[in-house]
Amino acid sequence: MAKAKNQPEGEAFLAAIPEEKKIRSLGVIMDGNGRWAKARALPRTAGHIAGAKVVPRLIGDLRELGVRTVTLYAFSTENWKRPKPEVDALMGLLARYMKEVVIPKIESDPGFGVRFLGDLGKLSPDLADLCRRAERMGQGREFLCNIAFNYGGREEILHAANEAIAAGELPLTEEILERHLYTAGIPDPDLIIRTAGESRLSGFLLWQAAYSEIYITKTLWPDFSREDLVAALCDYYRRTRRFGGLAPEEGSL
Ligand code: FPP
Repeated sequence: MAKAKNQPEGEAFLAAIPEEKKIRSLGVIMDGNGRWAKARALPRTAGHIAGAKVVPRLIGDLRELGVRTVTLYAFSTENWKRPKPEVDALMGLLARYMKEVVIPKIESDPGFGVRFLGDLGKLSPDLADLCRRAERMGQGREFLCNIAFNYGGREEILHAANEAIAAGELPLTEEILERHLYTAGIPDPDLIIRTAGESRLSGFLLWQAAYSEIYITKTLWPDFSREDLVAALCDYYRRTRRFGGLAPEEGSL
């Protein structure tokens, strides 16, 4: 109740954030689908289906709130360890989601594009083709939704380093490595939201998260609402980011 009461205040606070301070890039670790399903005595896959339904609404809310890039952690390199029926269900869900939601959205909305972060080589050729086709169709759009799928931060860094070494780009520098990351050209996340209460990154954007602010909410992903998003963004805008330096008011002895 208290949250609902604060909602209009939060929206007004966000509306007053100046353009140059706005979050450019947001990361989301969508956790808690299994717990959401368990609490309803449903199979875990029902939690993933409910979780996928949150994504279009989140994207609409982000666009209204002035965030132009979001990166969603949908399947990690470690998620292959889950029981095969759950892995198969997640692959099937991505395929359905691409055909029924993402591609029609790219076709109908000239401002929306997607990009995949991760090694798509381990997906079925049909699913990988669908992902690559969607990327090509939505290139250069104003709003970018990155889907981290078969993604792991350590794997990404190794992959980037190996690519750079193979191209003879030595000695490695931050700039060279960044050009070979899956996220090349995408701003580092200003804020990472993790749902379902766990306080860890679980391999998400390990290189890019060096100075990201992290916000953890107990809300399970399928319950994540605009109200939760507004609460996270307000919390972020009330923080002082130092990037290893000092805030202006801390600058004198
Ligand atoms: C973590 O919850 C969530 C996942 C491993 C999958 C996330 C996938 C979706 C939200 C749907 C697919 C999205 C797209 C964009 C196709 P968990 O299963 O670890 O939950 P638990 O910790 O409660 O068990």
